[in-house]
Amino acid sequence: MGLVTTKEIFKKAYEGGYAVGAFNVNNMEIIQGIIDASLRANSPVILQVSSGARKYANPIYLRKLVEAAVEYTESVGKDIPIVLHLDHGDSFELCRDCIDSGFTSVMFDGSKLSFEENIRITKQVVDYAHPRGVVVEAELGKLAGIEDDVKVDNEDALFTDPMEAKEFVEKSGCDSLAIAIGTSHGAFKFKGEAKLRFDILEKITNLLPGFPLVLHGASSVPQEFVEMCNKYGGNIPGAKGVPEEMLREAAKYGVCKINIDSDIRLAMTSYVRKCFNETPEVFDPRTYLGKARDAVSDMVEHKIVNVLGCSNKI
Ligand code: G3H
Ligand code: 13P
Ligand code: ZN
Repeated sequence: MGLVTTKEIFKKAYEGGYAVGAFNVNNMEIIQGIIDASLRANSPVILQVSSGARKYANPIYLRKLVEAAVEYTESVGKDIPIVLHLDHGDSFELCRDCIDSGFTSVMFDGSKLSFEENIRITKQVVDYAHPRGVVVEAELGKLAGIEDDVKVDNEDALFTDPMEAKEFVEKSGCDSLAIAIGTSHGAFKFKGEAKLRFDILEKITNLLPGFPLVLHGASSVPQEFVEMCNKYGGNIPGAKGVPEEMLREAAKYGVCKINIDSDIRLAMTSYVRKCFNETPEVFDPRTYLGKARDAVSDMVEHKIVNVLGCSNKI
């Protein structure tokens, strides 16, 4: 099948009221863990690459690893739909480079720009991407986390304005839109109780019927991993994510893509720490990276089957 875009995947997800996972990839073990989970669950999957990932692993290595994943799935006779997506592209030039090098989906993140400038560059990316068969995700609203310590009089100013979302989609021509309804990046999302603005999400869905929405900062920060990290020498007290039932709920309201990175980091780190702690004699990286890969795979399978609802949707 080769790499695919999100067009068909989102259409089916929207109609079926489920979401597809977009997992950040930085190395071979992460890619293998995600792909093995997707194969076991018969699920489409989005592998996303950030600028940080490109800097860490080198764009050529990452692209070839994703190509290997496609070839591997074909070799085991299971053609799962795989999307290669640029996460948080911050310029037209970066989006263009990724389109030219085989990505099937790019995100232009102009959420820090003015409304007009965000539309202008998103449209520029769309005009370059569409004739080449590539889809474009855009972002509107601020994903302010508690770690940013943002203090505003009007809390709503941080979230995506539903009327602006409609105008933005119409003027930019983007294929999906990342919205801000209270999620944030990282492992420390809420100081107190977790709260998402489903009222805003519902308004956006009503104004943009059939249009796929994206939730960034959607890791649920499983407490099992946090406890393991802390038990084996880590120090991440108070880490907290988006409750899984909220993600399930969001998928019913037009959220077709749910972004997960921190949970991958936590799964790997907790198992590597455990391995080092319990078997200090181990110095073969295949031992601890193998355990990390298994942990990623189990976590991703759990998300696919029990949270996102995208198992058996290939
Ligand atoms: O949205 C951010 C993702 O978690 C990627 O993080 O920029 O550290 O690779 P990164
Ligand atoms: P998390 O930090 O919640 O995993 O969010 C990842 C993300 O949004 C990547 O774009
Ligand atoms: Zn993000």
